[in-house]
Amino acid sequence: MCYAIPGKVVGIENSLVTIDYFGEKKYAKNDFFSLKIGEYVYAQGGFIIQRVSEEEALPILEAWKELFFKLQEIDSRISAKPQNLYQRANYLRQKYSGNSCCVHGIIEFSNYCRNDCLYCGLRKSNDRIRRYRMEIGEIINTAEYAVKKLGFKALVLQSGEDVWYDEDKICKIVSGILKNCACLIILSIGEREESLFGKAYKVGARGLLLRFETGNPILYEKFRPGHIWKERVGLIKKLSALGYLIMSGFLIGLPGQTKEDLEKDIDLTASLKPEMFSFGPFIPHPNTPLGDFPKPSLEFVLDIIAQTRMKYPDSRILVTTALETLDKINGLRLGLLSGANSLMINVTPQKYRTLYEIYPERAGTEISVEERIGYVIKLLQSLGRAPTDLGRGG
Ligand code: 5AD
Ligand code: SF4
Repeated sequence: MCYAIPGKVVGIENSLVTIDYFGEKKYAKNDFFSLKIGEYVYAQGGFIIQRVSEEEALPILEAWKELFFKLQEIDSRISAKPQNLYQRANYLRQKYSGNSCCVHGIIEFSNYCRNDCLYCGLRKSNDRIRRYRMEIGEIINTAEYAVKKLGFKALVLQSGEDVWYDEDKICKIVSGILKNCACLIILSIGEREESLFGKAYKVGARGLLLRFETGNPILYEKFRPGHIWKERVGLIKKLSALGYLIMSGFLIGLPGQTKEDLEKDIDLTASLKPEMFSFGPFIPHPNTPLGDFPKPSLEFVLDIIAQTRMKYPDSRILVTTALETLDKINGLRLGLLSGANSLMINVTPQKYRTLYEIYPERAGTEISVEERIGYVIKLLQSLGRAPTDLGRGG
């Protein structure tokens, strides 16, 4: 199983490298390697994450070659002649972003949280949840399995805001993973100290997944007691300036949120110049103060995906697990056909997966990761999408 295609280095200008993939040129930043023209590399999220020998690269390229063009053909056929909003968005996705679909792995390593967000099942006041924390070694082993055995090239490390993992532990996890595995590490650990993120960057973390939740400061401060909207957005901006690739976005369907709020949320996300938009439906959790509020419909969420694609045609848009949870059979496919071009696969050890209960009955918790990968690859191929992340186009 492989989620990336090796590319050939054809240009180097300081840390900016031009890479050729079957004649297509893409750019990636090189922070970690001393490279020469003609060498082969893997890139993820616009970063070079691994150098590969020619002997290793050529057979992989040979295996991909035919499929690469066949998938593009299927995608072009499906995306042609758009009629409705979703199809128009999908057409734009194909035209501006091509058929690559990032598939990141996610490890949910702790469900402890010091916060009390009114919408979230992990909130500290929820005493009906069984809490878990994965040990440092267990996290590193899980990551190693995901990269070496399952073929992931990018991993999200997610937790509640759990201060048990201090700066030292987070850095040990990041460097422990990178010592043995070539991958892009994306931290999703909440609103932690800037210095922690700074140190984690130094040891090799390059991605940050941190939503601003809602661009409406009044709603934000109501639903996240003790937190200040400006500080949240300020932190995302600071970490972006530090060099982190930003994945951010908002919740759809919070009580009191209007369509205008959501339109602004799309633009606010775009203004953060994100590597990826990550927005998804609010799904009520019975053990939270918002448990009795309704969830938004699937169509409502697909509309937001389509609107985002129409406004920002070359963006990367994630189909969230929450969207899939709204319709476990069709959610992922419909999301991908409404303008989205990215997804995540949960690689958390099975025994913890149901405990990470942000909201109930999350999609994908009931099957093994291997089954899920098989399902996703089949779906992507049927839609003509290549499970790859080639970096930015020229
Ligand atoms: N429904 C959907 N998403 C939720 N999150 C938290 N609670 C819920 C819920 N009830 C999301 C938040 C947070 C991410 C980790 O999970 O947007 O940023
Ligand atoms: Fe904690 Fe995040 Fe849930 Fe808020 S949304 S309670 S910070 S896990």
